[in-house]
Amino acid sequence: MVGRAMELAAATRSAFLGNGVESCLSPKACRSSFRTPTTTTTPGQIVMTSNFEKTNPYADELKKTAAFISAPGKGILASDESNATTGKRLATVGLDNTVENRQAWRELLYSAPGLGNYISGTIMFDETLFQSSRAGVPFVDILKEQGILPGIKVDTGLQPIDGTDGETATQGLDGLAERCQRYYKQGARFAKWRAVLKVDNEVLPSSTAILENAHGLARYAQICQANGLVPIVEPEVTLGEGDYSIERTAYISEKVNSHVFRLLNEYNVILEGILLKPNMILPGLDVPTPAPEEVARYTVRTMFRSVPGAVPGIHFLSGGMSEEEATLNLQALQAYGPTPWSLTFSYGRALQSSTLKMWAGQEENWQAAQERLVALAKANSDAQLGKYKGPHPSPGGQRILQALRLGGAGK
Ligand code: 13P
Repeated sequence: MVGRAMELAAATRSAFLGNGVESCLSPKACRSSFRTPTTTTTPGQIVMTSNFEKTNPYADELKKTAAFISAPGKGILASDESNATTGKRLATVGLDNTVENRQAWRELLYSAPGLGNYISGTIMFDETLFQSSRAGVPFVDILKEQGILPGIKVDTGLQPIDGTDGETATQGLDGLAERCQRYYKQGARFAKWRAVLKVDNEVLPSSTAILENAHGLARYAQICQANGLVPIVEPEVTLGEGDYSIERTAYISEKVNSHVFRLLNEYNVILEGILLKPNMILPGLDVPTPAPEEVARYTVRTMFRSVPGAVPGIHFLSGGMSEEEATLNLQALQAYGPTPWSLTFSYGRALQSSTLKMWAGQEENWQAAQERLVALAKANSDAQLGKYKGPHPSPGGQRILQALRLGGAGK
């Protein structure tokens, strides 16, 4: 089915682009020819660039940043949990939610030797972006040394949408431009905004929630690009309770992505200067965990049906998958390559869970925990390149559903 979707995508591209574009049917050639901005026009020629892009002093930088982050074999470490969520994670290993414990935990992650071989960017929370190691070295400098770009979560959380069945709208547009400027000055080069859409067998998500969240993501993305930050656009169809099928998640995710890209287009967001962070396509939690090949088939088909080829990278969230499941599913996606976008990772729980357990706040475990993090990052880097062989560095196959079971939004 995916083969058919790929043929359709190629045919659509060909029909749209007209004659003489055969070279564009090769994704690699397509990337190089269409990512280069047109700077000269002749009379009568269709102008391919929006005013927003033409007048944006950051346009080229945004494209370079996005390409750097989504380079082959590279992914993102998501470490942007709010202080409250970090507290819940620290509590699982008996640590208090103090500024010192949060600082030590993030220092352990960012200073892990060799992390930059596999990780190109890390998403941080406001407190962390301005924090230093216990020896006084700013985290942004530690990351720079590793070749890892700092990113920043800029949404301010979720609020219920009145009249819906517990659906939410992501907040944070007020004052966003000023915050982006402050973050850019501090060294951040990309940002994240997470929209959450719940799915069930019949009515969720509502069209109200889909439209509201697509609008929020598009306006956020435009403001980030106007201020030099590559926006990670994250429309997460959450892995939730219930027996809804994998087909249902595929259908909903395609609809959600399509609305998001419709709105990104409305706001003239520069597609080569964004990164998409979607969910992999999984059924509800009451359905047995599908094989990686099945997840990959539905996931790649959904991306082909709803994500423009101009987007450089699709960085999947781990969303509650076990550490090993996240790696195996990522590897299975690569069987459908080459694709116009890199299919890679932006994992939080799937990189941090067993690392945190291994550390548990004990100085003598510091090195072993850092080695665990780097081994997990390498496994996912190998999977992104389609060459992961195992055994997996994580100990068990448990899904990491703590945040979901607590009823929280997870971030
Ligand atoms: P998980 O990989 O734990 O889902 O977190 C990624 C993330 O940043 C979700 O917003």
